[in-house]
Amino acid sequence: MASLGHDVVGIDRDSERIASLAAGRAPFFEPGLDRLLAEQLASDRLRFSADMSDAASAEVHFLAVGTPQGPGGAADLSHLESALDALRPALASGALVVGKSTVPVGTAARLAEIVAARGARLAWNPEFLREGHAIDDTLRPDRIVYGVVGEADAAVLDAVYAGVLSHGMPRIVTDLATAELVKTAANAFLATKISFINAMAEVAEASGADVARLAEAIGHDPRIGHRFLGAGVGFGGGCLPKDIRAFQARADELGVGEALAFLGEVDRINQRRRDRVVTLAAELLGGDVAGRRIAVLGLAFKPDSDDVRDSPALDIAVRLHAAGAHVRATDPHAIPAARRVQPELDYRDTLDEALSRAELVLLLTEWREYRLLDPAATRIRVSGLRLIDGRNALDAEAWRAAGWDYRALGRAFASRGIAAPAAVGALDV
Ligand code: UGA
Repeated sequence: MASLGHDVVGIDRDSERIASLAAGRAPFFEPGLDRLLAEQLASDRLRFSADMSDAASAEVHFLAVGTPQGPGGAADLSHLESALDALRPALASGALVVGKSTVPVGTAARLAEIVAARGARLAWNPEFLREGHAIDDTLRPDRIVYGVVGEADAAVLDAVYAGVLSHGMPRIVTDLATAELVKTAANAFLATKISFINAMAEVAEASGADVARLAEAIGHDPRIGHRFLGAGVGFGGGCLPKDIRAFQARADELGVGEALAFLGEVDRINQRRRDRVVTLAAELLGGDVAGRRIAVLGLAFKPDSDDVRDSPALDIAVRLHAAGAHVRATDPHAIPAARRVQPELDYRDTLDEALSRAELVLLLTEWREYRLLDPAATRIRVSGLRLIDGRNALDAEAWRAAGWDYRALGRAFASRGIAAPAAVGALDV
């Protein structure tokens, strides 16, 4: 917002976070963010505060707090509610409060009444950014959606987003409920697409087919498309898993639970991929992982992020550790975050240390440096030439040619020791 020319104050009740931001350090890893932060702090358009009264002069207030998973899968709205409670006394009459958080449909209408009691108004403006691409997705989104109660509020948002809208992306103006639903529907669709291809991976494994080749072929149909057809250990993170659960919980409340029952299956397919890696690891090590040395490459839920919330990689590492394996786990950025939630794992800062004398290597987050691993050079660091490519990120043929027992999810050829088909073009996810 500051880079778009607005005067911005960022407020959080966590004063450590505020101090870090004010010093130009983002509290998490996101490519390009530290630099943008430094530029905008230097411009004097951006400051941070733990004191909500600093928001009093603002014309537009964005609510961007998290809505984590609560009991029974429903969204926990307590952060959102307490942020709005704290903001209320600072709200000037005529101000616009804009919700960004992902919420159960119907939340905005309820919050609009609270805001109206102060003579202010509420709009809902869902966020579609992906971690690892946050800056680009924010400054050049593929669409902008406003849920508003009146045209005047759309005009305020147009002024806020003028610098973004000038790129010409679609702008959809709708009611509050539809705007809330657009976000949950989009994430549910993406999760379903990933679980669809992972379901095909299960069938491919059972039938001797190759899911990567299948994804390439069906993706050429423009109605299907290649993106989000990457089979592997499945989706994680702070959004897709909890959003599909919260969506089902809300549908149940609305009496239409049956309509979203399939999302339960989407979730189960996703969890089964993690089970499959744990079983395959045992299979490759002769039936039991106890006492065996396993290198886990990747802990973040996806590359270019240090987020380990519901990360398939961390989950698999923890399960193998619990089964008695000597797991050495590494990640270019996510070790501190992983250590905070799973202190018992053996973390190694370098790839060399993690690989050293491993009997089995698991690639679980497709960081660029892991995709570029050289099979011959990796050979001499380990003590067993076994590899599970949990992201279908490596060139199967090259690894097999270098003598590795290469396995990948949904690619039966990799288990039968036959040559891999010609390289599949990298899927753009
Ligand atoms: C997701 C959505 O993509 C964003 O549009 C949305 O704004 C965001 O949630 C949110 O609700 O805030 P994000 O969680 O950053 O973004 O990550 P994704 O790129 O969607 O990836 C989610 C997971 O799916 C990752 O674990 C990734 O490894 C996995 N994935 C992705 C696959 O397993 N296969 C694929 O083909 C693509």
